[in-house]
Amino acid sequence: MPRLANIGSLATCASPSGQDDIGLIRDAALVWRDGIVRWAGPAAALPVEYADEPAWDAGGRLVIPGLVDAHTHLAFGGWRAGEFSDRLRGRDYLEIAAAGGGIKSTVRATRALDEEALLARAREFLSGMVSLGITTVEAKSGYGLDLETELRLLRVYRRLDEMGPARIVSTCLAAHVVPAEWAEDRAGYVKLVTERILPAVAEEGLAEFCDVFVEDSAFSADEARRICERGSELGLRPKLHVDQLTGGGGAELAASLGAVSADHLEYVSEAGIEALAAAGVVGVTLPLATLYLNQTPPPARGLIDGGVAVAVASDFNPGTAPSWHLPFAMTLACARQRMTPAEVLRGATRYAARAVGREGEAGSLEPGAAADFAVIDAPDVEHWLYHLRPNACVATAIGGEIRHGVLHGA
Ligand code: NIG
Ligand code: FE
Repeated sequence: MPRLANIGSLATCASPSGQDDIGLIRDAALVWRDGIVRWAGPAAALPVEYADEPAWDAGGRLVIPGLVDAHTHLAFGGWRAGEFSDRLRGRDYLEIAAAGGGIKSTVRATRALDEEALLARAREFLSGMVSLGITTVEAKSGYGLDLETELRLLRVYRRLDEMGPARIVSTCLAAHVVPAEWAEDRAGYVKLVTERILPAVAEEGLAEFCDVFVEDSAFSADEARRICERGSELGLRPKLHVDQLTGGGGAELAASLGAVSADHLEYVSEAGIEALAAAGVVGVTLPLATLYLNQTPPPARGLIDGGVAVAVASDFNPGTAPSWHLPFAMTLACARQRMTPAEVLRGATRYAARAVGREGEAGSLEPGAAADFAVIDAPDVEHWLYHLRPNACVATAIGGEIRHGVLHGA
């Protein structure tokens, strides 16, 4: 049974509730077998049966559960750096989209790539993520917007989950926007999603979740309800992009649909917060998208104080969040949303795992959970997110196997 010894502090995130409870243990040890955690606790209390087993040395550093990025658009073609500059010159995100840029331009670039090309790009992004301590990534389709390309994207995710370097949780976002060829027939596109795309995705077992971008410029609440209800019938749980650019009762909709998460929430209302809390929906804040669109961030304190579990994710995509740097997003959640470092760690581990249906398996280091962890060269979580040193993550392990960096011993 391999173990990790000489851990300066271990954030287990083991308790099921409490946004700032990261289950910190000083001078800790962690033991696993067959990729699953068997024991975590103070080194002085290590059960004797583990004492002679091979040990890796954490060098007195901080050890955290592998980070879970609960919201990414991982596979896509092309980039949109020009739009970044255009927005700086005063053009608005929706204006760019209306002129054929935005999501639609990424759809064109994505349709032009075959499965191998999409796989190679996404795999490279993933290895960058693993080097930051990320071990599980939720990945959405949504840049195909036709049957063939949506399936292609989701097949890429299935292959990535099998081949590594990280665990993938897949979401079908065929309802991202109405694609150009259906502009004159929105109902026809909604029908394509509910009658062809979602059934084909379910039939091949290609996704666990069904997402809809609920926005004036994308899908209405009624359309979202129809799409999510069809997804639920097919076994795909709802997850929603809501209240990002305008406030339209998106959080309330997510709560009424029993969504596992409601993501973005820049324009969430008091009633929306109450609805999320009452329905146990995870609120996912995406500080990089908020930053790149120069928006006022969602009220993280109001959400937490209102009883909502808040996850922090990257939203990695070529438009609104072209960086996969989840630790930077975590620092932004502290600096701009007044979340504490402990709260954001929990938001990027245990609550992120909850937002992707993996709580107790990923995002925590407790007996029965996967031995997915990151060794961070910082004395504690506060110092790590405050200093945000490049290469702070010295090693990442998935199922007890080192996938990034080096550890001495064993
Ligand atoms: O999560 N809001 C919708 N979708 C993405 C943006 C996608 C894009 O601009 O390509 C988001 O921010
Ligand atoms: Fe998104």
